[in-house]
Amino acid sequence: MDTLWLFPQNKFMVLFLSFNLFIVSIVGDTMTPTKSIVDGQILISSDGTFELGFFSPGDSNNRYLGIHYRGTPDKTVAWVANRISPLNGSMGVLNLTGDGNLVLLNSTGYIIWSTGTTNAINPVAQLLDSGNLVLIERTTKKLLWQSFDHPGNTLLPGMKLGWDLRTNLNRYLTSWKSSSDPSPGDYYYKLHTDAVPELVLWRGFVPIYRTGPWNGGGLV
Ligand SMILES: *[C@@H]1O[C@H](CO)[C@@H](O)[C@H](O)[C@H]1NC(C)=O
Ligand SMILES: *[C@@H]1O[C@H](CO)[C@@H](O)[C@H](O)[C@H]1NC(C)=O
Ligand SMILES: *[C@@H]1O[C@H](CO)[C@@H](O)[C@H](O)[C@H]1NC(C)=O
Repeated sequence: MDTLWLFPQNKFMVLFLSFNLFIVSIVGDTMTPTKSIVDGQILISSDGTFELGFFSPGDSNNRYLGIHYRGTPDKTVAWVANRISPLNGSMGVLNLTGDGNLVLLNSTGYIIWSTGTTNAINPVAQLLDSGNLVLIERTTKKLLWQSFDHPGNTLLPGMKLGWDLRTNLNRYLTSWKSSSDPSPGDYYYKLHTDAVPELVLWRGFVPIYRTGPWNGGGLV
């Protein structure tokens, strides 16, 4: 069963799915190269709205690193790092390298996901109150990477869809395959730019919902 639900709420849409999470300890809202996050530890945004940690969705035994919205009883998932590369029977660890690459390793030290960033000086990862995980240079404040540029199935206030000319990324939503598998399913929600730009919900190659022409200003 595909799961992509869009709830129009003023000028944004939010999608939530259920999961179970084991919480052990909170390690603040930032992460530096000397600090790792292992399964059971979480980062919490400073106002407590979002957390970053490991979880198993639905009936899955796989572990994923994700950002969860703490305001709902079931702590719904807002973003998943290793959507297509689950940790299979292995405890993961999130490390930040000294030159600014945020890497997710399995228990044998194999990199299963990374931000691919490099050449940074004094990098720090921070989970913001918006639910955005940002990787910045502490001194210059230069933005190296942000989770909002890599949407999953959830659009949070402050996220934008469509092309980002700075990063040359086309940001769009894709459904989960099922409530136990966050890998991309059949549905995606994407800015269509052939004629007048508009957001279109697709199932495979079939458009099934259109928002009407888009004013180019983003959703928020
Ligand atoms: C991850 O970071 C910890 C310390 O922060 C370090 O001990 C460990 O070796 C790192 N793991 C890898 C695979 O780089
Ligand atoms: C996880 O490992 C088990 C046992 O090796 C295997 O049967 C299963 O297919 C693996 N699952 C994934 C998602 O790699
Ligand atoms: C870590 O990932 C590598 C590559 O997929 C795999 O060969 C290895 O078995 C994994 N380690 C564990 C403990 O799952």
